[in-house]
Amino acid sequence: MVDYPVLRYEHAAHSQEKGEYRHFMLKEIHEQPAAIANTLEGTQGEDHVLTAILGLEAETRLKDLQNIHIVACGTSCHAGLVARYWIEDQAGLPCQVEVASEYRYRQVAVPANTLLIAISQSGETADTLAALRYAKQQGYLASLAICNVAGSSLVREADWRLLTKAGPEIGVASTKAFTTQLVALLWLTTALAQVKDRAPEMISANVRALKGLPRLVEKVLHLDQHIEELATTFANKHHALFLGRGPHYPIAMEGVLKLKEISYIHAEAYAAGELKHGPLALVDENMPVVSVAPSDSLLEKLKSNLQEVGARGGQLITFACERVDMDEGEGITYLKLPWVYEAVSPIVYTVPLQLLSYHVALVKGTDVDKPRNLAKSVTVE
Ligand code: F6R
Repeated sequence: MVDYPVLRYEHAAHSQEKGEYRHFMLKEIHEQPAAIANTLEGTQGEDHVLTAILGLEAETRLKDLQNIHIVACGTSCHAGLVARYWIEDQAGLPCQVEVASEYRYRQVAVPANTLLIAISQSGETADTLAALRYAKQQGYLASLAICNVAGSSLVREADWRLLTKAGPEIGVASTKAFTTQLVALLWLTTALAQVKDRAPEMISANVRALKGLPRLVEKVLHLDQHIEELATTFANKHHALFLGRGPHYPIAMEGVLKLKEISYIHAEAYAAGELKHGPLALVDENMPVVSVAPSDSLLEKLKSNLQEVGARGGQLITFACERVDMDEGEGITYLKLPWVYEAVSPIVYTVPLQLLSYHVALVKGTDVDKPRNLAKSVTVE
C-alpha cells in the first residue's frame, strides 16, 4: 500500500455562495479587483518583478529562453493570444499560440530553447493536459503551467508553475480566471523583459500599471448600469460582430465567446482591418457591431474601420477611451472608459464585454451560470 500525502486547499466559505448577487457569473465579475490583487501579491517590488517566485530553476533559466509556445483551450487560449502581442513586443521573443486540441495531434517543430506554456483555469482540461504530456516528449527547454488550481494535474506535471489566485470559479463562463491569467501573463512578459535587459522604464511602467489595475477595474465595474441599458439593443438580434485591433482583437474574440455561450446569440470576432475583405457584406441595421477602441497606436485605423460600418447603417456599440474624440452619429453608441496604460488595456476592456454578455443573457432569459450543453471542466476529449 502506498501512503499519499493529503493536501488541503482552503477557500473562504463565501466563494461557494452567491451572496448579494443574482448569479455566480455577476459575483465573479465583481470579484475581479480582489482576484487581480491576490494574483499580484508578493510578485513585484517598486520597479521590478520578483522572478524568484517562479522557483530557483526557472529563475536561472529564464535568460536562456529564445522562443515561447503557448497551448490552451477556449477562454484560456484567448489569454495566450493576447500574451503573444506582449511577449513579442516587450520581451522580443517569438511566440506562437495554438489550441491544445490541434497542437496535440500534429508534429510540432520546436526550435532550441523554447518554453512551452500551458494555460488553464481548472488544470484538468483533457486537451490541455494531453498537449502538455505530448510537449514533454518534444525537446522543450521546460514547461510552465499557468493555472488557478494549485493541486491540479497540470500544475503537478509541468516543470514550472505560475498560479493565478482568482479563487473558485463556479459560473461556467470564465471571467475572473481570464483576467487573472492575463495579469499572470503580463507579469511573465515583464519578467522576461527584465532578464533580457529590455528598457527599464517599460518594466517599471508595467509594474506600476499592474499595481493600479484593481482600482481601474473597480471603476469600470461602475459602468454596469449603462451596459445594462445597451444590452436591450440585442433583444431581437440573432447575430453580432465584434471588432478589435492588436491585442484587443483576442479581447473581441473573448467577448464573442462569452456572448455565444451564455446568450446563444451567434457572433464573430474580426480584426477590424479584415472587415472589408468579406464580413462588411453582413452589416445592416440588424447587425450590432461591438468594438473595442482604446487610446492606442491603432486607434486611427480602427476609427476608419468603424466609419465603414456606420456608412452601411450598422448599429455600432463602441467601448472607447474617455480622452479620445469619436465621431457621434445616428446608430452609434459610445461607452467611455478611463484612460489606461497601453499594456494593461486588454485586461480593462475585457470587463465591459463580460458585463454586456451577462446583461444580454438576462434579456434573453437564459440560464447564465449553467448554459446549455456546456460543462465547467472539460475532462474528456
Ligand atoms: C469559456 C470557458 C471555456 C474554458 C475552456 C478551458 O467561458 O470557460 O472556454 O476556458 O474550457 O478551460 P480551462 O481554462 O479550465 O482549461
